[in-house]
Amino acid sequence: MSPPRSAVIRHFDAQAETYQDRARHGLWAWQRRREAGAILALAGAMNGRSALDLGAGAGFYARLLAERGAQPTVAVDASRAMVARIDHPGLEAIEGDIATIRLGRRFDVVLLAGVLEFVDDAEAALLNAARHLAVDGSMVLLVPTDNTGGRLYRRFHRRHGFAITLFGRHHVQQLAAVAGLALTAERPVAPFSAVYALAPR
Ligand SMILES: C[S@@+](CC[C@H](N)C(=O)[O-])C[C@H]1O[C@@H](n2cnc3c(N)ncnc32)[C@H](O)[C@@H]1O
Repeated sequence: MSPPRSAVIRHFDAQAETYQDRARHGLWAWQRRREAGAILALAGAMNGRSALDLGAGAGFYARLLAERGAQPTVAVDASRAMVARIDHPGLEAIEGDIATIRLGRRFDVVLLAGVLEFVDDAEAALLNAARHLAVDGSMVLLVPTDNTGGRLYRRFHRRHGFAITLFGRHHVQQLAAVAGLALTAERPVAPFSAVYALAPR
């Protein structure tokens, strides 16, 4: 029997069918475009590098990385319905929890885009993500910021029955240190996001 699904995963299961389409319109598309620009800039050249997208949703970023030459590109998400939507050629889609999954391999780029705020234990999730990062690899995080914009985003999710975590730079640095990583670059994406690059110390 499958374990009970959390309110977060039930929410994203229910969103999966229309998630990508809704992200292509309006304010979401505007924010997404700018977040994607920051993520790709901090991820650097992808050609011939391997990539792991943790909390990949329906595969928006995994697909971008694969289109830029990442090989192989693996996408992990805890929502079965999201994973079922990942159908880009060459992408390997796996259902799993980012805090506990063990893939037994390391990647040049590990991306966590819009997922760390949803997990119960961000430290455990980042530590597990670091287990999958190559010694000369880079990890890229997209997180909601602890500011007015972030608090509005948190209020939006409260309506779905769960609280999300907001992150400041100091918090990210603390989490990174526990995972044996150091902060190497940062790009704010107003009004409520920031992208961080982390590398093994
Ligand atoms: C806001 S969506 C972002 C999806 C994708 N990164 C994107 O930007 O399109 C958050 C995703 O994180 C997933 N998620 C939440 N908690 C998770 C966990 N503990 N392990 C794996 N995935 C998780 C959800 O199922 C959802 O697909």
